[in-house]
Amino acid sequence: MVWHKVNLKKMKKNDKVLPATYGTRYFEGEVPKYEMPKNSMPQDAAYQLIHDELNLDGNPSLNLATFVSTWMEEGADKLIMENINKNFIDHDEYPKTADIEKRVVNMLARLFNAPEAAKSVGVGTVGSSEAIMLALLAHKFSWKSKMKAKGKKYNKPNIVMGADVHIVWEKFARYFDVEQRLVPMEEGDYVLTAKKMLKHVDENTICVGAILGTTFTGQADEIKKINDALVKLKKTKGWDIPIHVDGASGGFIAPFIYPNMKWDFRLQQVKSINVSGHKFGLVYPGMGWLVFREEKDLPKDLIFYVNYLGGEMPTYTLNFSRGSAMTIAQYYNMIRLGKSGYKKIMQNIVGNASYLGALLKKTKKFTLLNDGNMLPIIAVMLKGKPGFTVFELSAKLREKGWIIPAYTLPANAQKIAIMRMVVKENFSHDMAGILFADIMEAYGILQKKKPAPKKKSGGHKIC
Ligand SMILES: Cc1ncc(COP(=O)(O)O)c(C=O)c1O
Repeated sequence: MVWHKVNLKKMKKNDKVLPATYGTRYFEGEVPKYEMPKNSMPQDAAYQLIHDELNLDGNPSLNLATFVSTWMEEGADKLIMENINKNFIDHDEYPKTADIEKRVVNMLARLFNAPEAAKSVGVGTVGSSEAIMLALLAHKFSWKSKMKAKGKKYNKPNIVMGADVHIVWEKFARYFDVEQRLVPMEEGDYVLTAKKMLKHVDENTICVGAILGTTFTGQADEIKKINDALVKLKKTKGWDIPIHVDGASGGFIAPFIYPNMKWDFRLQQVKSINVSGHKFGLVYPGMGWLVFREEKDLPKDLIFYVNYLGGEMPTYTLNFSRGSAMTIAQYYNMIRLGKSGYKKIMQNIVGNASYLGALLKKTKKFTLLNDGNMLPIIAVMLKGKPGFTVFELSAKLREKGWIIPAYTLPANAQKIAIMRMVVKENFSHDMAGILFADIMEAYGILQKKKPAPKKKSGGHKIC
């Protein structure tokens, strides 16, 4: 019996039905989707309706498509909930939170080997996309001032980057009216090299983009060689072209496990670096960082001062309001884990990725574009002609809950279709073994489904 059909008045007091959540009318009809409902509903019904529908989302722990953290420890979760109601921009009201952002920027500048004498500056952002937009805008403004000072035209800025860049780089070029010089990939060559870069730069280049861990394959551009080539160019032609390093994923890995690899402010032309706190910074979504090598690399006319929150507050962000919780969670990770803690986690992540990469390689069924040995990203192509595509393999794995994307590479490597797995903190050695077994099972099922080759003659038609 449905509760609202019960005539409560006729019932004795003791017989009254106290409706349980799933006994209420909210579970009988459609959930409001297009128009806000006229009346309110009880909170338990609203919660349950949304909660139940969200069960159909993928399981974040099995999501190897995302680079973004899907797990944090209890201390962090507690701090996040305690600070979920603070708007980060209210510096005057939440001065300690603002202070914490500065501390993280300081730590990152040192982690990225900013020169001792340099006064580095930086900012927390919603993610690496905002950080990259802000960095490139700063380089555009600096280039313009330089050209103005030389009495030269400044109406044709360009930016040089490999086709391996994340979409945000292309967005920047279009949104902020900068000519995009996208250096194409080639089959077997999926990163930006110094040689390729040199063919595209000129006096109007505001910046060269170099990636530490590309979104497509997890490989790194030739950052050191690009720097050396630009240093040489500065001497021969007088063009002082800065590099912005997109360390969205690699920026929190390289300092801990490849401390001798030079990709950061140790390189003269690297003037700014972004890193995603919410990737290997091990914080939930909503956290990116931008660090400029020197204060002078961030033009003053890009900084705005507002007084409507009390005090005189400088701001250099695209968005005004955002949450504070992830900034605090980032600081928690940094002091809780320390360098040794981050190092151990990164070693485990890379170790587990390499293990999975080695298992896949051993089958001789895959060509590995990235075996997880440097950055914990495994990118594979199918070897030979197994009779199915990586897209079908990806879909088959989804039946088991694994979320592993398959896609084609950008120009000029569009013919290459790959499947990519990002190994994160909460993906153990054991899980790597389970995933490997599931990949092989899916491979076997798809191969058996392959239609039998047609016989040329003599076949009997059996009905
Ligand atoms: C190399 C690279 N740069 C930038 C981004 C954009 O980062 P976010 O998602 O933090 O905005 C990504 C995201 O995957 C990335 O892999």
